[in-house]
Amino acid sequence: MDEATKVGLTTESRPQAGEKWVTFRIWRQESASSPGDFEEFRVPWRKGANVISSLMEIQRNPVNAAGKPTTPVTWDAACLEEVCGSCAMNINGRVRMACSALVDKLEWPITLEPMRKFPMVRDLTVDRTRMFESLKRVKAWIELDGTHNLGPGPRQSQSEQIQRYVLSTCITCGSCLEACPQITQDNDFMGAAPISQVRLFNLHPTGAMHAEDRLHGLMGPGGIQDCGKAQNCVQVCPKEIPLTTSIAAMNRDVTKLVVKDLFFKDKETETAVGGPA
Ligand code: SF4
Ligand code: FES
Repeated sequence: MDEATKVGLTTESRPQAGEKWVTFRIWRQESASSPGDFEEFRVPWRKGANVISSLMEIQRNPVNAAGKPTTPVTWDAACLEEVCGSCAMNINGRVRMACSALVDKLEWPITLEPMRKFPMVRDLTVDRTRMFESLKRVKAWIELDGTHNLGPGPRQSQSEQIQRYVLSTCITCGSCLEACPQITQDNDFMGAAPISQVRLFNLHPTGAMHAEDRLHGLMGPGGIQDCGKAQNCVQVCPKEIPLTTSIAAMNRDVTKLVVKDLFFKDKETETAVGGPA
């Protein structure tokens, strides 16, 4: 039996004579509580194919490399242009976005695994709630009073805009958390992305009004002090956000605020006990 018949390809999707096949080793796991293992698939080589288009090909023909029908592989993807952040996975052992990972630029066979720092949902799909909870904790938004017309907002200098723009490109993909040795599924370190988002919103002239609230969100268990400065985050960020610069800047601001909090706490205590006002 030829390869195309074995993996159940229709006449139209069969590779032409002399065309190549790409082997994928894909992590299969039915649920968080079931055991997982790799399953091999063979996909006809297509010019310009990326990992997601190959997964779609497998979805159309869920037959493994041994010719056995199997369940379709589950993965997350939406925008297919590195904007939504949902397709992050480990490709050949390195976390990256599957929609922009070109088959021709990868070593074959191509190994696909889910991110391991997030709870498993199924196959390559994980639960990234942890990241969104951290964004809530640090208040990664700008409060606006919508009860009346506020008029134009404060102007931002071009240098501020340039500085903030790259920070605003975070797609909450989770790659920086996946690569961080400080993060495990059992701890609550927030990782680089929310820390960098605090910098983004605190640099905004309106957002700066709640800068201290956000910095307080970075303090405490799971906060910025859990960063071990491994600097892996900055190496895997698909948007090349200067995460270590953000962490250093927010560390400085948090330290200043800790001192300020201590000073004002002492003042309050002195006033309460009748000491110097
Ligand atoms: S900082 Fe970079 S790696 Fe981290 S979530 Fe945002 S885009 Fe992804
Ligand atoms: S599908 Fe949206 S980033 Fe890859």
